[in-house]
Amino acid sequence: MHYNISKKVINVKKIIPVIILTIIILFALKIMNITSDEDLLSRENFLIIAHRGASAYAPEHTLESYRLAQEMGTDYIEIDLQMTKDGHLIAMHDLTVDRTTDGKGYVKDLTLEEIKSLDAGSWFSDAFKGVKVPTLEEVFEEFGHDANYYIETKNTDVNIGMEEELIRLLEKYHLTGKVASSGKVIIQSFDAESLKRIHEMDESIPLVQLISKDEINQYNLNEVKKYALGVGTHFELVSEEFIQQAKKAELLIHPFTVDDLNMIKELKDKGVTGVFTNDLAITVNIDTE
Ligand code: G3P
Ligand code: CA
Repeated sequence: MHYNISKKVINVKKIIPVIILTIIILFALKIMNITSDEDLLSRENFLIIAHRGASAYAPEHTLESYRLAQEMGTDYIEIDLQMTKDGHLIAMHDLTVDRTTDGKGYVKDLTLEEIKSLDAGSWFSDAFKGVKVPTLEEVFEEFGHDANYYIETKNTDVNIGMEEELIRLLEKYHLTGKVASSGKVIIQSFDAESLKRIHEMDESIPLVQLISKDEINQYNLNEVKKYALGVGTHFELVSEEFIQQAKKAELLIHPFTVDDLNMIKELKDKGVTGVFTNDLAITVNIDTE
């Protein structure tokens, strides 16, 4: 069938396969979450980061906490990393298992099997009795490309080789390259050397330099910009001056950890580009654009 439009002839039979192929590609990109994530790291986008998962409602750094965060509509699940005696990366904030499990001891002195025998839910509430500490690999297995990951390399003086193992797992689960640079993965650390090592291994991964109270005046943000895409610090340290410096250096600003809606709105109005929160429920009506 041929149509004549302004003397041009369009062959419908020829363009149908092109249309079908375009639809398939768009559908595949949507499944891979690439199209929707492209503007994730735009300065215009205000990000909600589920600090340790939905940790106000479920035990921090468990699959239950991450699942709930996803259900509640977070932009990112935050994952702190520790390394076991036998070299596995697990999701845990502290150096020891004491606070968030029924066990005792340093993660670095325990094997994965020993950590898996612990109850990581009862300390939070009986409803979570028997919940286990997840490995990073289990988190990737569970959420694949359906979640966005904001991962922290912690205690890097103790967790030697953590960066290499993290990159290995990101590669295994196809979370590097364009997938990472579109915003699906962010790696954060208080340790600039850890971030620089990651940057040397894989430039595709967006990095965020965390800055402690003691260091807030020591960082040259123009230097940070050479390897990182953003900075994170305690929300009480985010002054107008800090925001202006970060903006000038074209760095994203992600303060932690803000559980007060008015404070989140105030920070947003001042120009920060996202917040870590334990309490996702308060963020539901925030305009994120
Ligand atoms: O990563 C931002 C924030 O989580 C840093 O503090 O101690 O909760 O890991 P912390
Ligand atoms: Ca953290």
